[in-house]
Amino acid sequence: RVIVLDFGSQYAQLIARRVREQNVYCQIVRHDLSADRIAELAPKGIILSGGPNSVYEDGAPKCDPGLFKLGIPVMGICYGMQLTCEALGGKVDNTPSREYGRAACKITNHESLFAGMPDDMEVWMSHGDQVSAISDQFEPLAQTGTCPYAAVKHRELPIYAMQFHPEVTHTPLGGQILRNFVIGVCGCEASWQLSDFAEATIARVREQVGDRRVICGLSGGVDSSVVAALLYKAIGPQLTCILVDNGLLRKNEQDIVINEFSNHFKTDLHVVEAEDRFLASLAGIDEPQEKRRRIGHDFIECFKAEAEKIEDAHFLAQGTLYPDVIESGADPDGPAATIKLHHNVGGLPEELGFELIEPLRDLFKDEVRRLGLELGLPEILVWRHPFPGPGLAVRCLGEVTKEKLDVLREADSIVVAEIEAAGLYRETSQSFAVLLPVQSVGVMGDARTYDNAIAVRSVNTDDFMTADWSRLPYDLLAKISTRIINEVKGVNRVCYDISSKPPATIEWE
Ligand code: XMP
Repeated sequence: RVIVLDFGSQYAQLIARRVREQNVYCQIVRHDLSADRIAELAPKGIILSGGPNSVYEDGAPKCDPGLFKLGIPVMGICYGMQLTCEALGGKVDNTPSREYGRAACKITNHESLFAGMPDDMEVWMSHGDQVSAISDQFEPLAQTGTCPYAAVKHRELPIYAMQFHPEVTHTPLGGQILRNFVIGVCGCEASWQLSDFAEATIARVREQVGDRRVICGLSGGVDSSVVAALLYKAIGPQLTCILVDNGLLRKNEQDIVINEFSNHFKTDLHVVEAEDRFLASLAGIDEPQEKRRRIGHDFIECFKAEAEKIEDAHFLAQGTLYPDVIESGADPDGPAATIKLHHNVGGLPEELGFELIEPLRDLFKDEVRRLGLELGLPEILVWRHPFPGPGLAVRCLGEVTKEKLDVLREADSIVVAEIEAAGLYRETSQSFAVLLPVQSVGVMGDARTYDNAIAVRSVNTDDFMTADWSRLPYDLLAKISTRIINEVKGVNRVCYDISSKPPATIEWE
C-alpha cells in the first residue's frame, strides 16, 4: 500500500482515489504520524498532500522529518513539496501573485517520475507560496513560466516533489505521473482489485457472524443496497433488511426497492409503514433543521421498534464509507475529525445495542458502485443519484403536508424521467424538483390560476462539497416544464435553479 499524509488539503481523498485507480491500495493518515509508526505500517510509498497553510507560519502542520530517512519513496504535492524542500535545506517564499488555474509546464528531466511523457504538459496550480531555492541535494525536473521548481527530485534518495496537483483532472497527465510514482518508483504491484476485496470481505463477514443474525436498513440508496447485497452473498438467510417508509420517499420508491433489490436477493425484508407517524411529527414545522431533527428521531424509533421484533438479531450492518471513517476521526492513524459539512440524518446511534458490521469502510463511493455491479445489483440501483435522509421534507419548503408531497413527487418523477430519457442521468450528479412555498398567477385555458411553483435543480459535482448547475439543453428544460405544468395539478410555473454551491447549497433547505 501507499499512504497519504493529510495536511488539510481538500484533495487528500482525491489523491487516494487516483492511486487506487492504479490498482494500488491507498490509505490516508494523519500528517504527524511518527516515522516509527510509518515504518511499522511499512508502506511502499508516502505521499505528502497539499494544505492551506504556509510552511513558515507558526503552528503550520509538519511531518516527522524522520520519514525522509526511512528509505521509502516520498512524493510531496504543493504544500507537501514546500515541506519536503524546506526540511531538506531549501527555501519557501510567498509568490508575488497567488497562482490558481492551468499552467504550461516544461519537463526538463524525463527520468522515473516523468518517464514516457512529452516535454510539454498542462498542469493545475493552486498556491500562494512556492519553493524559491532548492538545496544542492535536489535537482529540478520541470518548470513553468512563474514557477522555476514545478517539480524536483532528490539526487540520491527516492524523494520527489511537485508544486502542481497531479490528482485533479485539470492535470490531464496526472494519472500517469501517479502511476510512474507508485508503480515505477515505489515498485507497487497493480494488484488491488475490487473482486478480491469482495471475496475477502465476504469470508471475513461469514467468520465474524457465525450462525447469528444481521439486520440492515435499506434506503434505496447505493450504499445500503451494496451492504445488503454483500451480506446476502456472505450469510444469505441470516440477513433481515428493514425499510422504513417515512412517507417522504420519491414516487414508487418502495416498489423500486422491493422489485430491484428483493427480486435479486431473496432477503427477508420488513417494510415499516410509518407515513402517518412522520407526517404527524412534521405538522406545523417549517424550520429545516427542526424537520431534520424530528425525522432523524422518528427514524431511530421506528427502526428500533422493528429491530426489537427480530428476536435473534445480533449485528447491525451499516454502509459507512471510507470518507466517513476519515472525516469522523474513527481511524487511529487517520487525520483528526473534520467538522462534517452536512447534517447527516439517517444514521443510527450506538445505543441500539448491536454489534456493528461496516463492510464498506475502506471504500470510496465510486468503488462502492463498481462493487455493487460486481455483486450483481442492477444499474438502476447502483447509479442512482443520492437522496437525503430527510427525503422530500427538505424539498417541500415550509410546512410539509401529504398534499404538497404528492405534488412534489409527481413533478420530481417527471424531472428524473426526462433527464433519463435524454440520456443525461449519468452525466448529472443529482437532479430533482423542489416545491416552493409561493403561489403565482397564471392563465390556463381562459381562466386565471393562482398556483404552486416548482424549481428544477440539477447539479454536477465530484464530491458534493462544491457543485455547479447542470447546463441542461433548453429543449429538455422546455419539455420538463411543459409536462409538469400540464400533468401535475396545482402547478402553473417551473423555474430552473442556476446557482452554484457555494454560495447556494444543493438542497434548498
Ligand atoms: P447540500 O444541500 O448541503 O447537500 O449542498 C450536499 C449533499 O448532501 C445531501 N444532504 C443530506 N443527506 N441528510 C442526508 O443524508 C441530510 O440532512 C442532507 N442534507 C443534504 C444532499 O442531497 C447532497 O447530496
